Amino acid sequence: MNYKNDFPMLEKDIVYFDNGATTLKPKCVIDAICDYYTNYTSNAHRGDYKLSVKASNEYENVREKVKDLINAKNKDEIVFTSGSTESLNLVINGYFKNHLNKGDEVLITKSEHASNILPWYELENEIGIKVKYIPLTENHTVTIENLKMVVTDKTKVISIAHVTNVIGDVRPIKEIISYAHEKGILVVIDGAQSVGHTKVDVTSLDIDFLAFSAHKMLGPTGVGVLYGKYELLDEVKPLKYGGGMNIAFTSPKEIEYKDLPFRLEAGTQNIAGVIGFGKAIDYINKVGIDNIEETCDELKEYIVKKLKTLKNVKVYNENVEGSTIAFNINGIFAQDTAIYLDKYNICVRSGSHCAKKLEDELGIKNTCRISIYFYNTKEDADKLIEILDNDKILEESLGV
Ligand code: ALA
Repeated sequence: MNYKNDFPMLEKDIVYFDNGATTLKPKCVIDAICDYYTNYTSNAHRGDYKLSVKASNEYENVREKVKDLINAKNKDEIVFTSGSTESLNLVINGYFKNHLNKGDEVLITKSEHASNILPWYELENEIGIKVKYIPLTENHTVTIENLKMVVTDKTKVISIAHVTNVIGDVRPIKEIISYAHEKGILVVIDGAQSVGHTKVDVTSLDIDFLAFSAHKMLGPTGVGVLYGKYELLDEVKPLKYGGGMNIAFTSPKEIEYKDLPFRLEAGTQNIAGVIGFGKAIDYINKVGIDNIEETCDELKEYIVKKLKTLKNVKVYNENVEGSTIAFNINGIFAQDTAIYLDKYNICVRSGSHCAKKLEDELGIKNTCRISIYFYNTKEDADKLIEILDNDKILEESLGV
């Protein structure tokens, strides 16, 4: 299927392989945002006039769509945030800070994104929990056996990405969660790179908390979700207080807060963004999640195969599933490779990709990352390979 007509950015002369950072937006998402600003700008949940009622209804309909997308039991388990980073900070500081004690252990991995490491480090500094790492296999993946090696009586939380943002490995979260729950351990899943890319069913996976972003699945920036099982989410202390989350207040001792999800959504929300996110979900449902996953897997295999025929290319994650390829050209700094590709309008990300502990695993600090989404094509891949398969990269990057 050709998606060109649906994505204004695809009409430009670019090859966009930085979907791990953010995806492109279909016209229906952009139009829905414009429609809100053009035709019914008003605040949600605060007005008794028609425009505000429409804004509130559109906003709440998206909560329903998110609930269906991840198969949550109750729409009140869906809290809108500004993105995965805020969602993770909210659950770590709003729940775990009040439920963990000095010496309690949290398991993460060295391939997590900064937003699933730094809030835990801060908690270690503040309240004395211990952050430990699940050892990775030689392919940089997590196995249940490796997890079992580091679980102790003190382990209270496992907090891991479903799919990582550099290696792109898909973690066996069903097995991990089932094992964790047998031991009374809660599991936080960072779904930033998985929701909208593969099926994520919080009920059948029995996920305790899930964080994800709209902008990595066709939606606008500045919108994300924190899902939590109702009884857990209900114990999350707000990090923000203000309008929209309270029922009444007369003094510090006399405050009444709203029920979920509003208690965790203080202040005017990103109404336009949430409405745009709803259209992104509709679009993803139309394309089909299995189709999305299959298209990305096939293209990854195609690109890896071609990259391996090039001299001087090292791929760091060829043996894992997922739609991300981390590579370097021998002797060329990752950023120089990205800048060289940019001269040909090919967009890839380079650097540590916010996963700075991964260096301990890979033995290098910086890589180039090709991250694929379903609208990428074999033609995109062929152009990338053609440009990389060129001695000019040495001349232009190294001046030799
Ligand atoms: N976390 C985003 C990425 O992987 C920004 O590029």
